[in-house]
Amino acid sequence: MPSNFQPPITSHPPSHIAFIMDGNGRWANRRGLPRSVGHQKGAEALRRVVEAGAEIGIPYMTFFGFSSENWSRPEQEITELMRLLRYYLRSETAELHKNNIRLRVIGDRQRFDEDIIALIENAEALTHDNKRMTVIIALNYGGRHDILQAAFQARHHENFDTFAQSFEANLMTRDVPEPDLLVRTSGEMRISNFLLWQCAYAEFYFCDTLWPDFDRATLEKAIEAYAGRERRFGGLKRHEGS
Ligand code: IPE
Ligand code: IPE
Ligand code: MG
Repeated sequence: MPSNFQPPITSHPPSHIAFIMDGNGRWANRRGLPRSVGHQKGAEALRRVVEAGAEIGIPYMTFFGFSSENWSRPEQEITELMRLLRYYLRSETAELHKNNIRLRVIGDRQRFDEDIIALIENAEALTHDNKRMTVIIALNYGGRHDILQAAFQARHHENFDTFAQSFEANLMTRDVPEPDLLVRTSGEMRISNFLLWQCAYAEFYFCDTLWPDFDRATLEKAIEAYAGRERRFGGLKRHEGS
């Protein structure tokens, strides 16, 4: 080992990386293309990042695909996003399964058309027992709604501790470790109602890359930045207090 070797500060690579895939529209605008082309390229980037994550050995990756607020976009853009969603659920499910990847969807799926709900259910059932990696796609997801629905389901517990347990067990991310790293592309520095509860101690990484340009190299940069972070969870610095 070279004498100037510096061990990374975080002792483990992230187990769970969450992505706010932002900047598809701007990617297209800059090229004078319709926003739909940006979304198409964004879907290709998602595919690439899943592949890279599986190769690197990241156990969980969550992607914000469509927020509960994105319904306020023009009808034409929504139609295009639904078309892409259908297309990818149809074309990628078998590929994910072949690669031993489990797919899970979080968010209120009831608002989608029935055929999309069926495609989601089919993909989740087919890949349910896959072990290499879990890919979670957030669709019609809102962090506040997630918290509210979990609290609502747990409301009958009168004891605070059992309420808290039931609340956590009813979050849409139940059984998934909290994100260690939250990546948002396109230079925006906000959480936009993503995993509000779950990101309590996530490390945040913002980059200017627009999502359609995100690839293995930019993913590795984010992981490298994470390795240099010192996580304290409210405790002291590593060499303090010992
Ligand atoms: C992210 O890209 C994809 C979705 C929100 C569906 P945007 O569509 O938000 O792209 P910008 O932010 O307008 O560039
Ligand atoms: C967040 O991006 C939602 C997704 C990436 C799916 P937005 O582009 O919708 O967020 P704001 O409106 O810039 O906060
Ligand atoms: Mg955006």
